[in-house]
Amino acid sequence: MTTAASRRYLMCRPTHFAVTYKINPWMDPTAPYDNALAVSQWENLRQTFLDLGHTVDLIDPIPGLPDMVFAANGATVVDGKVLAVQFRDAERADEGPAYANWFTDAGFEVFDSKHTNEGEGDILLAGDVLLAGTGFRTSHAAHAQTQEIFGRPVITLQLVDPAYYHLDTALCVLDERNVAYLPSAFSPGSQAVLRRLFPNAVIATEADAEVLGLNAVSDGRTVVLPVQATGLAAALQAAGYETVGVDVSELRKAGGGPKCCTLVIRDRD
Ligand code: ARG
Repeated sequence: MTTAASRRYLMCRPTHFAVTYKINPWMDPTAPYDNALAVSQWENLRQTFLDLGHTVDLIDPIPGLPDMVFAANGATVVDGKVLAVQFRDAERADEGPAYANWFTDAGFEVFDSKHTNEGEGDILLAGDVLLAGTGFRTSHAAHAQTQEIFGRPVITLQLVDPAYYHLDTALCVLDERNVAYLPSAFSPGSQAVLRRLFPNAVIATEADAEVLGLNAVSDGRTVVLPVQATGLAAALQAAGYETVGVDVSELRKAGGGPKCCTLVIRDRD
């Protein structure tokens, strides 16, 4: 565990949240959802970050883009550089330029994505290196571009379970040295890589992952995670972290949790 730093996050209010198409196994367009509840759960998540001393920037939600609330997919931002995204699915394609424009307007250097790349959903900074998921969304070619742009080692991790289609649904970076993850979401080789890199990792159970418990946001000291992930919360506390449970069950109907709603903006030091 390292000391908590004040973080800068980008979020998008779920004004237009809906489940009208199915691009992951969690989504059921025939099931009911409650937009007002999604908004109030999201407001609570935002307030949780503010209470922890973090800054939250907001991007305007766009009608017709129901998944735009999942800001983690909007970009990868490291050392003040922004790698824009290219979604796999046409339903989300227009979110890419919307997030890229936000960063351009905010004065960041923005690089176009040349391959399918779903941003921080699949690319997570862990200390000096970037962990990058592939198998469902972000392509292997995007990992190479990510390494080239940021000049940091990119470690490819192969995702194998369709329920954990983005890296951030199967692995949470806790601090500069440690992560929590669900081993069965990864190929045998990637499990071996994770064991080698993170011998003291917090290992999540299937029950934790099924409530998207690993889709958590850590500032190095406090981990904000779905309140339903009680086993994981206890394991994190035993490992020395503080935990705050939030209920974002309505957003889970689209396959997202707290981390999906949160893009980390890392300015140049
Ligand atoms: N419905 C969205 C999709 O399938 C959920 C995205 C969740 N985001 C994340 N970072 N895991 O693309």
